[in-house]
Amino acid sequence: MSTSTRAPYSIALLPGDGIGPEVIAQARRVLDAIADASGVSFTFSEGLIGGAAIDATGNALPSETIAMCRGADAVLLGAVGGPKWDNPSAQVRPEQGLLGIRRALGLYANLRPVQPQPALIASSPIRAERLEGVDLLVVRELTGGIYFGEKSLVQAGNGERATDLCVYETEEIERVVRMGAELARVRRGRLTSVDKANVLETSRLWRRVATRVVADEFPDVQLEHLLVDACAMHLVTRPSHFDVIVTENMFGDILTDEAAVLAGSIGVLPSASLGAPRAGTRMGLYEPIHGSAPDIAGRGVANPVGAILSTALLLRYSLGMDAGARAIERAVRDALDEGARTPDVGGSATTVDVAESVLGRLQLAPEPASIA
Ligand code: IPM
Ligand code: MG
Repeated sequence: MSTSTRAPYSIALLPGDGIGPEVIAQARRVLDAIADASGVSFTFSEGLIGGAAIDATGNALPSETIAMCRGADAVLLGAVGGPKWDNPSAQVRPEQGLLGIRRALGLYANLRPVQPQPALIASSPIRAERLEGVDLLVVRELTGGIYFGEKSLVQAGNGERATDLCVYETEEIERVVRMGAELARVRRGRLTSVDKANVLETSRLWRRVATRVVADEFPDVQLEHLLVDACAMHLVTRPSHFDVIVTENMFGDILTDEAAVLAGSIGVLPSASLGAPRAGTRMGLYEPIHGSAPDIAGRGVANPVGAILSTALLLRYSLGMDAGARAIERAVRDALDEGARTPDVGGSATTVDVAESVLGRLQLAPEPASIA
């Protein structure tokens, strides 16, 4: 079936701060190449978020940005934050843009795949034999828990008292566990649910709900429970054990930075933040997990691989274009194998060099059919 009659997919670009604009510019070139080769087309719009939005509007997440993203098929984000806006006590902070857009778009599941690239095994501080067979996917709950619970700061005696409430409801746990189990089912069938059920009430609820959802709906998925402290250890002592890990918001934040070490550089990892399916597509926000890296911003040496692999996830999860996604992933692996590496992974290539190496290796057949 030809896809040429399909209306263009609209992609909202949120370059953000630091190296965000540099890597997003290269990721966009990859999407343009996919469009040329596959007969689909993209329209791009660009919005403000984070520090750039604070400077322009006084607000880290202007309402125009939210409206633009709501109207798009998918969102591609660079990074937010930087030294200029670094005061954590400021009223307005770049991170509010990121947390706000996750919430506004209902992106409750954050997928962070970690599969060390063969060419980068030596870049990881973990011994090569432990990295063999590592192919894991963390599904982090993204719109609940301690990140979004009520906060307070009050005078108490001679000092102050601060609280951050951690709240989870059954439904919030069900939907993200379901997502994790669906993904495990098409991978190796193992789901590790991570909690702190020996201490936290939210974790005891999490564990009960995870057990029920998997038993009732996914009898083919093998569920195990692991306490978060043990998981932190097992991620470096036996990382190949894991298939899909599903966990709450803050545990997922911490464990995914740790898991990134397996890949050799945080610069090569993509992520997908997904909401509920809608009419055959799924709203998603895609971003490299590396952050704004102000120390190297503007020098043209940022690793574009995390952003480029994020476009592959965008094609796969929001547009149902799995062939395009796989083509990008192959091209990235080949480019790294051929030595297209930025300084963070031991090379001397520039951001643009790496992107061009990937573009030169993209081999793409037309997409068989659009799901939309
Ligand atoms: C991440 C980041 C964010 C988070 C920050 C920037 C708010 O660390 O995406 O992992 O904690 O979720
Ligand atoms: Mg984080």
